[in-house]
Amino acid sequence: MDRGFRILCQGETRRLLTLLGVTAILVLVVQYAELPYGKMLSLIPSIRKISNSQMETSLGYSEREGNNNRSNANSINAFEAMASSPAPEAYEGRSSGFENAGGSIMAPGSGLASETKNFTANGVSSPVNNIEFTTRGIESPSFAPSRAPLGSETESRSPTISVPSNATSVKSDAAKQANNNDKPGFSQGNSSMSRKDNRITAKTSNKRPSEVVSISEMNLMLQRSHASSKLVNPRKASGVDQQIVQARLEIENAPIIENDSRFNSPIYRNASIFKRSYELMEKMLKVYIYQDGDKPIFHEYLLDGIYASEGWFMKLMEANKQFVTQDPGKAHLFYIPFSSRLLQLTLYVRNSHRRSNLIEYMRNYVDMIAAKHPFWNRKNGTDHFVVACHDWAPAETRGRMLNCIRALCNADIEVGFKIGKDVSLPETYVISAQNPLKNIGGNHPSQRPILAFFAGGMHGYLRPILLKYWQNKEADMQISGPLPHVRGNANYLQLMKNSKYCICARGHEVNSPRVVEAIINECVPVVLSDNFVPPFFEVLNWESFAVIVTEKDIPNLRNILLSISEERYLEMYRRVKQVQEHFLWRAEPVRYDLFHMILHSIWYNRLFQTRH
Ligand SMILES: *[C@@H]1O[C@H](CO)[C@@H](O)[C@H](O)[C@H]1NC(C)=O
Ligand SMILES: *[C@@H]1O[C@H](CO)[C@@H](O)[C@H](O)[C@H]1NC(C)=O
Ligand SMILES: *[C@@H]1O[C@H](CO)[C@@H](O)[C@H](O)[C@H]1NC(C)=O
Ligand SMILES: *[C@@H]1O[C@H](CO)[C@@H](O)[C@H](O)[C@H]1NC(C)=O
Ligand SMILES: *[C@@H]1O[C@H](CO)[C@@H](O)[C@H](O)[C@H]1NC(C)=O
Ligand SMILES: *[C@@H]1O[C@H](CO)[C@@H](O)[C@H](O)[C@H]1NC(C)=O
Repeated sequence: MDRGFRILCQGETRRLLTLLGVTAILVLVVQYAELPYGKMLSLIPSIRKISNSQMETSLGYSEREGNNNRSNANSINAFEAMASSPAPEAYEGRSSGFENAGGSIMAPGSGLASETKNFTANGVSSPVNNIEFTTRGIESPSFAPSRAPLGSETESRSPTISVPSNATSVKSDAAKQANNNDKPGFSQGNSSMSRKDNRITAKTSNKRPSEVVSISEMNLMLQRSHASSKLVNPRKASGVDQQIVQARLEIENAPIIENDSRFNSPIYRNASIFKRSYELMEKMLKVYIYQDGDKPIFHEYLLDGIYASEGWFMKLMEANKQFVTQDPGKAHLFYIPFSSRLLQLTLYVRNSHRRSNLIEYMRNYVDMIAAKHPFWNRKNGTDHFVVACHDWAPAETRGRMLNCIRALCNADIEVGFKIGKDVSLPETYVISAQNPLKNIGGNHPSQRPILAFFAGGMHGYLRPILLKYWQNKEADMQISGPLPHVRGNANYLQLMKNSKYCICARGHEVNSPRVVEAIINECVPVVLSDNFVPPFFEVLNWESFAVIVTEKDIPNLRNILLSISEERYLEMYRRVKQVQEHFLWRAEPVRYDLFHMILHSIWYNRLFQTRH
């Protein structure tokens, strides 16, 4: 535990906290009386003693399991309708069930481990829900109380629940479930929640995409996107624009690499282009970071859980010396440093089934910066970017923000992800913010007896189909629902390390942390998620190291995998190991790591999007 927390817990404060805790329970009881049972989950943090980070990750894990509150409106069509309507309502995404989940929040610039403040957002009662549009800092009185007492309740790792009532038993199950969900593949066992869960999921996640874009069509879209942004008349360009034009010309005429062991790999679409573009980024790129925007939605971040990518990026970007400029006149890119996860934790009104206020919040922010500074209007926002991993981020960045380069985990063509402009942000499940590099590696191919592995909660329409065809069908197909909980997630990780192919089946949304998990465990990813644009699509040649299977081919899954020759498998296995470095978070960034890859893709798309 951090020192601040200990101090907090001493003496007077402890008494105060106890008082607050009691209040919390009272509020809970009152709330429970008013709430439909489906929402129990949202109350968990206030009564139980689960670590914040556990809660965060647990509820959050891939399946967004633990989220039993998806409503109808979470279908793609509703999403679209919502997105295009000025005041979208009646939407509640899969994250809604854990809007109260806590997390570790870290002040920018603070040390990785030591200064993290534990908190539970949205707390016991809902003072946070009353936050008006003008943001409050984390210190603001109306915000802080909801967090502090909760955060300080979280010392115990075990989900002990002691409130005696029927409600408790539901919560207890939910808590266990949430806790399990945390770990890849552990998700909900059968619990009293499950039925409700299923009931709700059943009516919500049956939507298949209306139109499937194949990977080769995606490749064409990328080409077209670049071709359509031909450079014209750079003469009138300003200094920065001239640099962009110059960089692009240099990239288009990149010297062919023949002998570079790092780049001599088909994992890249075009290694020469990537190498040149990357080097030019290092040489030239300047990013201006808006200082506007209040904490915690802006300038703060969470470093663990399944949405950790946006947090890590923000932390490393704001701390960066090489790329950041204080002089907007020198900037090629403008970063809007918001956390879509903290936006949801802070402003989503529990049970409201609407996120229009979140969308409005971001719209107001852009209006504000556009009025206050000249930068937005110069290029209509096209040189601005966001990095956001929460499921709702595509919606939160609609409207004018659609002009920005959006690095999104939820990289779904159906919900407006634009290939060539937007960047597919890898979803990384960070268990330990202190040690994001834990457990890298896996068995040698000869020690991978399992052909295909999947374990996880039944979220979305697809996974039940996968299980229907493949659970308990063939010995080499290790396809199942959630695995029983084991400390340290060991069984899940062992299965990944023992399998040739890891099935990355979509859950409620197209993205899954399994893609990166597979790469980290050196298991060839099998992407089973129509219309999902794989990470760093503009740079990486996914077909060289992953298997892309369309959803309708689930019945053929085993044949498809068996038809891949051993040589071809070994080739993909080696390439997975090569591509691994691009998917690792490091507290001190190194060249070609995940931080730099995200920044590079944004830079690259900036160059090839620009019309002059
Ligand atoms: C947050 O809480 C968890 C569990 O109580 C603890 O293990 C962790 O160290 C805390 N994080 C910090 C930075 O205090
Ligand atoms: C819990 O609920 C069941 C039925 O829903 C009821 O029979 C039982 O008495 C309740 N127990 C408590 C402790 O309220
Ligand atoms: C889960 O619950 C369903 C029905 O609620 C039941 O049919 C099934 O056997 C249960 N599975 C386990 C593992 O308990
Ligand atoms: C890679 O890009 C360079 C520079 O545009 C080009 O000359 C080369 O032909 C490309 N290589 C491949 C394999 O497409
Ligand atoms: C290519 O690589 C080999 C061995 O790594 C080296 O001896 C040779 O000089 C390289 N050639 C060029 C043109 O870089
Ligand atoms: C700026 O972008 C908006 C869409 O967000 C568009 O409607 C508008 O026409 C654009 N303005 C210019 C000058 O391109």
